[in-house]
Amino acid sequence: MSRRKKIYEGKAKILYEGPEPGTLVQYFKDDATAFNNKKKATLEGKGVLNNRISEFIMLNLGRVGVPTHFIRRLNMREQLVREVEIIPLEVICRNVAAGSISQRLGIPEGDALPRSIVEFCYKNDSLNDPLVAEEHITAFNWASTQEIDDIISLTLRVNDFLSGMFAAVGIRLIDFKLEFGRLYEGDMVRTVLADEISPDSCRLWDIETNEKMDKDRFRRDLGNVTEAYAEVARRLGIMKEAPRAANDEAWK
Ligand code: C5P
Repeated sequence: MSRRKKIYEGKAKILYEGPEPGTLVQYFKDDATAFNNKKKATLEGKGVLNNRISEFIMLNLGRVGVPTHFIRRLNMREQLVREVEIIPLEVICRNVAAGSISQRLGIPEGDALPRSIVEFCYKNDSLNDPLVAEEHITAFNWASTQEIDDIISLTLRVNDFLSGMFAAVGIRLIDFKLEFGRLYEGDMVRTVLADEISPDSCRLWDIETNEKMDKDRFRRDLGNVTEAYAEVARRLGIMKEAPRAANDEAWK
């Protein structure tokens, strides 16, 4: 692994050059960060769980016709993905008020929103990923009007699919964040889903108890973070049993 060329290192993942042109290897770390890197920890086994959960979700989205960068999982912590040009937006879809929309607009956490809301943030750590309007996106050429249309319709399809998938296993999809990329195929460009979808990037509440099963457990010091992620994986049928320790050993 150390001989591979590192293309990019983010807070929770590393991208390495892939085995063939146009591919990358996406490595899932155990590092957890919140509040734009102000809070940090290593959560043993988190990368293994997110690799598996994201694989499961991307594969299922692919089956219902949502184009993604995912090719296949390589091992416990790595997946092979298509190299895309990342569109510098964090696309957030919300069904229930929580987190920044509750703070910004004073909507009590847990209130169902009148309809699903798609928000855009400009992906820039030094600016704390500020909320932006479509006007900014097109004026600064971060994405075209056509790309914004594609992103919104894909995001709503992902929301429909994931809301149903999670509801079927007793989990409420509160909100989630997506990233998209441009996939160049000859002289064609397609907008595809990139990055990951995992409890790091979604808010997931138990349907019966409202217990949080996502990264808010880390952000809010609720404890049992990887245990909650393992329970999400177990309910989705990815793991037969939630292992006591969600470390690499438990997955062999
Ligand atoms: O913090 P906020 O309420 O805006 O987050 C909305 C959703 O987007 C949450 O599920 C959160 O985990 C996710 N998110 C993310 N990465 C960010 C910002 C938000 O995965 N940089």
